[in-house]
Amino acid sequence: MSETVLHVSKIKDGTVIDHITGGHALDVARILGITGREKGIITIAINVPSKRFKVKDIVKIEGRELNPQEVHKIALLAPHATINIIRDYKVIAKQRVQLPKVIEDIIQCTNPACISNSNEPVQAKFYVESEDPLVLKCHYCGYIMEKRDVLQQF
Ligand code: CTP
Ligand code: ZN
Repeated sequence: MSETVLHVSKIKDGTVIDHITGGHALDVARILGITGREKGIITIAINVPSKRFKVKDIVKIEGRELNPQEVHKIALLAPHATINIIRDYKVIAKQRVQLPKVIEDIIQCTNPACISNSNEPVQAKFYVESEDPLVLKCHYCGYIMEKRDVLQQF
């Protein structure tokens, strides 16, 4: 085996988030609330060479599956990510993350004057104009949200 290659263990049961946009692995870990005090193996790989995208990041978590809200948050930052569910070392499901056309309840509008930020009982709502680069348009005030606006909230 080449001495320049370090093989990372496969996981037995859990989730592998693969093809994360380079540089966003730690954001994904934060979205998932990873503290470093978990019991199972967690692997965070940054700037791994990738055929499809030059470089990619990977987050592998033992003993954990993701809920839809977590998947939508990941999709905002890493629209090409794939979520692999692992059971007994096998990939039993592989799914590309997908953003709904309309996003409600996972982020707030950055415009402080937006009605969704007032005391009115109005829930934030955005239209996904583009996934990569990320462009979201607020339903109420038309403010254009980009990735940096979203990152500030995660
Ligand atoms: N993986 C893992 N533990 C396992 C099985 C798979 O950590 N027990 C990881 C692999 O290292 C890879 C990802 O899960 O990063 C997806 O596995 P697989 O579908 O076998 O790899 P590819 O065919 O390369 O995936 P893709 O086609 O999505 O690029
Ligand atoms: Zn707004």
